[in-house]
Amino acid sequence: MSATQKILVAVAWPYANGSIHVGHVAGTYLPADIFARYHRLKGHDVLMVSGSDAHGTPVTLEAEKRGVSPSEVANLYLDEFKDNWDRLGISFDLFTSTSTENHASVSQELFLTLKDNGYIFEKSMHQPYCIDDNRFLADRYVEGQCPLCSYDKARGDQCDSCGRTLDPQDLINLTCGLCGGSPEIRETIHFFFELTKFEDLLKQWISKKLDWKPNVLNFTKGFLEGGLVDRPITRDIEWGVEVPLQGYESKRLYVWFEAVIGYLSASKEWAILKGEPDAWKDFWTGESQSYYFMGKDNIIFHSILWPAMLMGNENLNLPTNVPANEYLNMEGFKLSTSRNWAVWLPDYLDQYEPDPLRYVIASILPELSDSDFSWKEYIRANNDELVATYGNLIHRVLSMTFNYFDGQVPSNKLVDTECEELLLKCEKTILLVGESIEQAQFRKGLSLAMTLASDANKFLEERKPWQTNKSDKEKTAASLWTSLSVINCLRVVLEPYLPHSSEKLKKMLGFPETKPSNWVWDRNDIIPGISIDKPAPLFKKLDDEIIETEDAKLRA
Ligand code: MF3
Ligand code: ZN
Repeated sequence: MSATQKILVAVAWPYANGSIHVGHVAGTYLPADIFARYHRLKGHDVLMVSGSDAHGTPVTLEAEKRGVSPSEVANLYLDEFKDNWDRLGISFDLFTSTSTENHASVSQELFLTLKDNGYIFEKSMHQPYCIDDNRFLADRYVEGQCPLCSYDKARGDQCDSCGRTLDPQDLINLTCGLCGGSPEIRETIHFFFELTKFEDLLKQWISKKLDWKPNVLNFTKGFLEGGLVDRPITRDIEWGVEVPLQGYESKRLYVWFEAVIGYLSASKEWAILKGEPDAWKDFWTGESQSYYFMGKDNIIFHSILWPAMLMGNENLNLPTNVPANEYLNMEGFKLSTSRNWAVWLPDYLDQYEPDPLRYVIASILPELSDSDFSWKEYIRANNDELVATYGNLIHRVLSMTFNYFDGQVPSNKLVDTECEELLLKCEKTILLVGESIEQAQFRKGLSLAMTLASDANKFLEERKPWQTNKSDKEKTAASLWTSLSVINCLRVVLEPYLPHSSEKLKKMLGFPETKPSNWVWDRNDIIPGISIDKPAPLFKKLDDEIIETEDAKLRA
């Protein structure tokens, strides 16, 4: 017997500067959760980790805007994120933060190892410095005229008008984003990570990743073809992980360099909390696998930077796969935090149930290209699919069982070929949904499950147990027993997608609460004679008015 498969589910760390919105859920958190839950049901050992990305200019800018410290902002959102994961059912084994001491020391240790191994060097560079504020200014802290399109509010890293990437020195009439003064350009020394040394190794490694998603593969290969450059990995800032060397007290590790180390530091923290400090190794060495979930703007950091850092470190496993997603738009437009064009997760969870959102988002995941969320689609998918197809199937079958058979699972003695055909579809469905999830084709998995639900509805339409109940009790029993067995199959295959509903359904089908959940469907789990309770609908039809109310909120 081979040892249990160990699977690291590494989930991108959200910046602790604002709430999670549906775009994050679709791009990163829901796919990661479906994947993790499936593998746990399969009996694999899963470690799913992430945390809040506490450093970087997104957090310091937000703190300055609010007049509080960066750590206050970071802690506030850390608490909010954890509460949201709890309510939406995103099943992290550990959700921590990059502001922990553990993360700082793991990051510093990796920095020193890469330096000892000869992949980090020092070089001087030129950066804007504001004399009035007495500090170096990060790229996002300077503004000026774009040399390419003449837009006069371009940022130090990018022009929002023409979209081109810039260096602060390129800007005409450079101004300080803090005080409006004119910064000077000063020389400063920084550490650089020699990404160029890994170019060939990365190309070889990527060339073997035949099963990666085409969007991820094309993006990564394109980036490699463009040629790599060595990246500065320290900054002249106060908020961040300290550089573990004397003489560098005023510098910090660059946020992206340390944030990706979070996967490793979180795994170590998890092991310590578990009381087995070495347990993290199971997920980072040997036959273990690792899957990294994120939106497309994060791809390069996970398909190039982090693998290069791991190569330079020498003895930890590289990513098995990076099944990144494209973007989820809303009502045809790109989601925007600053323009408040989004559905915020805390708002959603205060008003609605978690599983309908999981369902709707899973059905429109931007797996290979951008996709669109709208309240209209949310209501439609909830009412026409979740309620009308799946919910109704459950409710009809459980109600008939309850009414016609005294609340007891009927006999399966007269299961006929029609029943067998449908039961065979269950066997196929559980296999195919599993394969789809393993390949990160979550939409396909969901649609396969829903097809089975439709097939069961057709089966009922044809066999009309509500009519046969008066004339042929045994055929009615076979119809309902078979339908109950299909519902039990749907409960299993939909558990990664709709965990809250599957849990409730377990009880509705008369199973003891202690019945373990796993990725197994056995038709004989539906035992004739077992009692079920009077059923209540599992899903609620939602009012069309929600579309108007929510759209009005959005456009306010
Ligand atoms: N905080 C980044 C973002 O929201 C993601 C960081 S992923 C990590 O885009 F791995 F680097 F942590
Ligand atoms: Zn200034």
